[in-house]
Amino acid sequence: MGVKQQTAVAHPNLALIKYWGKRPGELNLAATDSISLTLDGYRTATAVGFEGGLEQDVFTLNGARRSAERVTKMLDLVRRETGLRCGARVDSRSTVPTAVGLASSSAGFAALSLAACAAAGLPTDVARVADFARRGSGSAARSLLGGWVEMRSGAHDDGSDFTVGELAPGNPWDVSVVVALTSRKAKRISSTAGMNRTAATSPYYGAWLESAAADFGNAKRALLEGDFQAFAFLAEHNCLKMHASAIASTPPVLYFEPATLAAIRTVWELREAGTGAFFTADAGPQAKVLCETKDRPRVEAALRATAGVLDVIAMSPGPGAWLR
Ligand code: PMV
Repeated sequence: MGVKQQTAVAHPNLALIKYWGKRPGELNLAATDSISLTLDGYRTATAVGFEGGLEQDVFTLNGARRSAERVTKMLDLVRRETGLRCGARVDSRSTVPTAVGLASSSAGFAALSLAACAAAGLPTDVARVADFARRGSGSAARSLLGGWVEMRSGAHDDGSDFTVGELAPGNPWDVSVVVALTSRKAKRISSTAGMNRTAATSPYYGAWLESAAADFGNAKRALLEGDFQAFAFLAEHNCLKMHASAIASTPPVLYFEPATLAAIRTVWELREAGTGAFFTADAGPQAKVLCETKDRPRVEAALRATAGVLDVIAMSPGPGAWLR
């Protein structure tokens, strides 16, 4: 068969209402519905070409050969759907630092799944591609879309009512995300291992699931009503509840570093002084601060002056994934 190479580009997304925990089964369905913001700035461009005669997938990231294990796992689903038997050459170029909690996998698997579907001749509408993206990394399905995005697992065991959708297209608020980089080391525990351990051992996992469902409904309403302060406050609280449930696991799942806590204090001091800044953090030590763009210079300066913060990176809302 001739090679048809396709390239897709995707940006990371930041979860404001978190997915933390999986439903039983192989489909990688989240136990909680989530809301995210796709960001500009960092991006991943991935080229996929299925090649007759290639027995294994060959994966390169920024020119260096890498283990293709997770790539192959996702491409196997595409091969199963299409009857393709050959391996693929996957060449990914990414500006997102990997495994430090900057959502590199969300951009990576969104770009990979879109490029793979196109290269294999499968439909490339978001609903179809999202099923593949989610299998690679739960949060990746959200990066297929731009701006504010909701991801809902639905109720069916076969995942047939799983959806991702753009919320409030047109961007209701002029917001920025300022990332306080607190560590360049790889995260201690992957998000999958962290959430599985939380589900298996944390006495607070049940409480997390219950309050996450309420947070999703309330945050979506605040977003649709244009109430930024209410939305961002819910997001910050949702993040703390996710981490509280994780910290209570055995052994503990603790992603914060001292500088993460210092950045959180800075955000609270900013708020006490009248600036509407709100933090969130994922499976890593970086503090990510949501604010209105008019307040961005003040937030950047305060984070820069925070002990232990290595760098400050500001981002704006970004578009969904596209084929190049
Ligand atoms: O997409 P995964 O499997 O890496 O999990 C993402 C988990 C969080 O980033 C912590 C939360 C989220 O909703 O993205």
